[in-house]
Amino acid sequence: MKIGLIGYGTVGSGVYERLIGSREQIESIIGEKFEIVRILVKNVEKYKDVNSTLFTSSWDTFFNTDKYDIVFEAINGTELTKTYTKALLKQGTSVISANKKLVALHGEELEQLAFENQAYYGWDAAVCGAIPIVNVFKSVLLTTNIQSIAGILNGTSNYILTKMSEGSTYEAALGEAQKLGYAEEDPTSDVEGWDAVYKLCLLARQCYDQWVCPEDIERVGISHIDQWHIQAAKELNLSFKLIAKLESDATSLKGFVKPALIDQEHSLAPIRGVLNAVTLEGKDMERLIFAGPGAGKETTANSVVEDFVFHEQQKHVLPRFTNRLTKLEEGIADNVTT
Ligand code: HSE
Repeated sequence: MKIGLIGYGTVGSGVYERLIGSREQIESIIGEKFEIVRILVKNVEKYKDVNSTLFTSSWDTFFNTDKYDIVFEAINGTELTKTYTKALLKQGTSVISANKKLVALHGEELEQLAFENQAYYGWDAAVCGAIPIVNVFKSVLLTTNIQSIAGILNGTSNYILTKMSEGSTYEAALGEAQKLGYAEEDPTSDVEGWDAVYKLCLLARQCYDQWVCPEDIERVGISHIDQWHIQAAKELNLSFKLIAKLESDATSLKGFVKPALIDQEHSLAPIRGVLNAVTLEGKDMERLIFAGPGAGKETTANSVVEDFVFHEQQKHVLPRFTNRLTKLEEGIADNVTT
């Protein structure tokens, strides 16, 4: 299996290291050997001492020199990434992405393209870092009526609010989140709620089979919250969280992302620092809560690789299942004719 990688930043390098580090285990599950053939980066000079043949900064070289079975896409922005993803999907190459903005804005078109070309477009890692929530919807909860999805979907803003409650300034906490690799290249997306909005759109797609426009989700960020707000809340035993919520009724889906005050008994109160949480509520399951690190190199890379392995494994499971059914049907047919 030939693998390409687009981007070698926090997530991209994490994916590379995770693939190499878990090679034996991955190959035994996917049933074949894999080779990382090429890595597309912005500045190839940075990697000339590492492995000069592996890295390229030319899309033409990346795209035209090799054919890939799968490409992991881990870069920012939407324009170039969309062009790259479309070109790959059109030739039947599967793409796994951690780019929530791209998926929220263009996912419908890209999924359609993948479907038309028998490719896979996977984006589990684009939602909530380590929490495999998208693949939970793909593999279980297939008929469960989920009335609402709520939670904390942005690690950076939760980290900032947690640090501020411990006495840090907004600027210092944001600086730490950037240093730790949690924040986006432009952290406006994190602190103004856009990142959580994109993730809510992705959850809507997977849970309700509907593409929601990010602009239709009500949005307020955390950048206006001052230290005195946090301390005043603390005196009342309350804390600020940037809550994202999506509610479904018979006719529509409504969503919002905004800061809310919660008390210490609230199920989201222990979700501190870079943690994210997703709470699902429905009549037949009451309440399920999924929690874990929402950002970071290893955790996000883990989800990217798990998405790939999960998909490859499904390819093996389904034919086996289909073969068994065919045999059963043949058996039934034999019995009928004899
Ligand atoms: N900037 C994002 C966050 C990264 O802080 O949650 C993970 O999507």
